[in-house]
Amino acid sequence: MPTILITGANGQLGQELSSILTENDVWQVDLTDKEELDITNHLAVSSYFAELDDLRYVINCAAYTAVDKAEEDVELAHSINMNGAQNLARSAKEAGAQMIQISTDYVYHSEQNLPFKEGDETNPKSVYASTKLAGDNYVQRAHPMAMIIRTSWVYSSFGNNFVKTMLRLGRERDSLGIVFDQIGTPTYARDLAKVIIEIINKVENGDVPREKMAGIFHFSNEGVTSWYDFALAIFEKEKIACNVSPIETKDYPTPAKRPPFSVLNKSKIKNTFGVDIRHWRSSLDDCLRLLRL
Ligand SMILES: NC(=O)c1ccc[n+]([C@@H]2O[C@H](COP(=O)([O-])OP(=O)(O)OC[C@H]3O[C@@H](n4cnc5c(N)ncnc54)[C@H](OP(=O)(O)O)[C@@H]3O)[C@@H](O)[C@H]2O)c1
Repeated sequence: MPTILITGANGQLGQELSSILTENDVWQVDLTDKEELDITNHLAVSSYFAELDDLRYVINCAAYTAVDKAEEDVELAHSINMNGAQNLARSAKEAGAQMIQISTDYVYHSEQNLPFKEGDETNPKSVYASTKLAGDNYVQRAHPMAMIIRTSWVYSSFGNNFVKTMLRLGRERDSLGIVFDQIGTPTYARDLAKVIIEIINKVENGDVPREKMAGIFHFSNEGVTSWYDFALAIFEKEKIACNVSPIETKDYPTPAKRPPFSVLNKSKIKNTFGVDIRHWRSSLDDCLRLLRL
């Protein structure tokens, strides 16, 4: 059986991919997190790859994702998001495997208020965003056929994220102020995991030529919202009686700057691979249903 290697398998996206892929009998799925494979260790990465049979895909879900902490933890963020991604891309290229690198909407930061396309100018304003953008560039240089998927506002029933934080705070407090001047689109990690697997299947079945995977693609759910409206939707759906007020970013200062608008245009991934994308409200329903169990 051909192998799919997943790094950062204990993270949100990694766990969603694992939970879908481990049921299958087509792929040998190799799940690793930093205990099994520290992607920053170049020698460990190349010797790990040498042991794998028929490695076909490397999906890099490993990252330094603590956006605010990264402002102080610059070296580690660089090491994971840039060098780690580069190590994987080099070894994937050497092994003849397709690399799929996951990246972020935070690489875009401008006054623009139209959804960002893949060719739009990048302008990272935080350590996290800069290291992710540098990671994208390193990966493309080391492995020109690599697929880079930039996504936004990721949540899941696994791990820590905005949805779970809101559920907790909404039940603990009578009122909350949530920023309304950062606009984007939530991404249910399970939908992203499914789309990645759908694309791999289409390529493997010959429905889409493998070369089409090369380059940058955007993926989030459909629709547009603010963090404030996202929180309101969570509370409405879960009937949580917490009073939410819209506040401005300037009244909720954070160490790392966030883009005011980071909606992604997803035409390229939809047109290239014929994938359907759900509205974020419908995906949120699914995640909340799972969290209720
Ligand atoms: N979360 C978001 O809102 C968001 C938005 C846009 C894009 N993205 C991107 O989407 C991807 C997946 O995000 P996610 O939310 O699933 O991330 P996550 O939940 O933070 O998972 C990342 C995983 O990588 C692991 N990791 C850290 N350093 C490692 C190393 N040196 N070697 C191997 N594994 C290591 C982490 O372990 P520890 O937890 O133990 O450090 C964690 O299990 C990332 O590339 C991220 O940049 C995320």
